[in-house]
Amino acid sequence: AQRPIIIQGPMPIEAENFAKRLENVKEEKSGDFVFYIGTLDNYPVIVAKTGKGMENTAAATAVAIEKFNPIAIINQGTSGGHDPSLNVFDIVLGKRTVNIGSLKTADKAENQGIDPTIWKPMDLMASEGSAGEDPNAEKPRFYEGDKDLLAAANAVKDKYTKGKVVEGTIGSADVWNNEVDRIKWFHTKYGTSVEEMEGASAAQIAKAYDVPFLGIRVLSNNKVNGGKYNPNTAAANQEYVYEVVKKYITTL
Ligand code: 5AD
Repeated sequence: AQRPIIIQGPMPIEAENFAKRLENVKEEKSGDFVFYIGTLDNYPVIVAKTGKGMENTAAATAVAIEKFNPIAIINQGTSGGHDPSLNVFDIVLGKRTVNIGSLKTADKAENQGIDPTIWKPMDLMASEGSAGEDPNAEKPRFYEGDKDLLAAANAVKDKYTKGKVVEGTIGSADVWNNEVDRIKWFHTKYGTSVEEMEGASAAQIAKAYDVPFLGIRVLSNNKVNGGKYNPNTAAANQEYVYEVVKKYITTL
């Protein structure tokens, strides 16, 4: 049998639009996760409504891999801009995805305070030993976007007319950053283009199982340049991702 492509979306507005475009759909639940199992151009495609955040997404990714043996996973949805040159409705293809909530604080005694500006990135995958003690773990862990998925996404860039489509770095954590200086800190230290709450957890699990992965994120807001939140970006992203999947299928 053909191995399905899985398209993940956290919120209903980030998944249901794509699910409605599938053919021959049957719905299946696992825990809180909803899988819309259907076809697109006669190829098996499954839309997964994962819920928000790193934990939901990691679990939904593992469950989907064990249940459906996917050939590829795309994690997509909305995001907040870290790059001042990106506007609401622009789309970032995750050449790299990184967990920006994985941090080690400085070594300070009582009454020496709290200083997030000198916290260090922490790579939990650097070794099987203690990340607190291992100096090799003091770096971000970047997950590379799959090159064939990236090629398919770049090939249909022109079909998206609501903004530009660029390659970049997607940062993920269960945090919504509204401090511009903190956003700039991530942008400088990790090279983040956008932030959201799911991509890196899906990328980490996909990598554990060796499943090709790509994050595709539309900006729904950008604190850095005053871009106001627009929920309609979620549907626009799904329309673009639909074109990406259509293209990717022709390469299989
Ligand atoms: N920061 C964090 N998450 C964001 N999301 C959209 N914009 C942002 C932002 N600025 C996405 C997350 C999560 C939900 C809150 O919207 O991925 O699913």
